[in-house]
Amino acid sequence: MKNFSTNENELKQVLIPQNRLQERVSELGLQISQDFAGKNLTIVAILKGSFVFAADLLRAITVPCSIDFMSISSYGTQTSSGVVRITKDLDESIAARHVLLVEDIIDTGLTANYLTHALRQRNPASVDICALLDKSARRIIDLPIPYRGFEIPDVFVVGYGMDYQQQYRNLPNISILRLNGCSKPQQHAANDPDQNDSQKSP
Ligand code: IMP
Ligand code: MG
Repeated sequence: MKNFSTNENELKQVLIPQNRLQERVSELGLQISQDFAGKNLTIVAILKGSFVFAADLLRAITVPCSIDFMSISSYGTQTSSGVVRITKDLDESIAARHVLLVEDIIDTGLTANYLTHALRQRNPASVDICALLDKSARRIIDLPIPYRGFEIPDVFVVGYGMDYQQQYRNLPNISILRLNGCSKPQQHAANDPDQNDSQKSP
């Protein structure tokens, strides 16, 4: 396997291999295609972390759909309120459309909770969450996740679009990141525009 490690960081172990990801994404695409048949579906992918998942999911969906992107960054340490700043908004209106919010990982649930509320104010027909990973042990806000790829333990993961300080997004699998012997990166100051993707606290 190629060496994707940078600096002193090391990849600890593969948590979800590439073939398992592909299988599960196909299953999710099938489920979504059945549930949204005959409906006007808009996929809303949250950048940057979900872009690889969204690209694969889109190709596993067999009903007509459009895709749009939103980019967000957190205010402060994020863990307090979950209020995020929208740094790139949708290009198209979602009024009267069935929206599927595609996230890489639901951790505390604060981000997805904020975003679903924000999207519901734009009069869509519906808003549902599709998350590749669910770290439910850390949930603060209970959210329905009708489309969920995998439940994972409370570890920090990278790969398949997910980063640590903008690295590792190119890993084809999902791996647990060990930093200096610790699998839980510490939270950094809120000075990174993509903080929500890469600066999570354990
Ligand atoms: P939440 O608001 O706590 O649910 O934060 C969810 C966001 O935090 C995800 O969309 C990711 O961008 C980021 N995140 C949470 N856990 C991890 C992780 O283990 N690796 C990489 N990013 C993570
Ligand atoms: Mg994210």
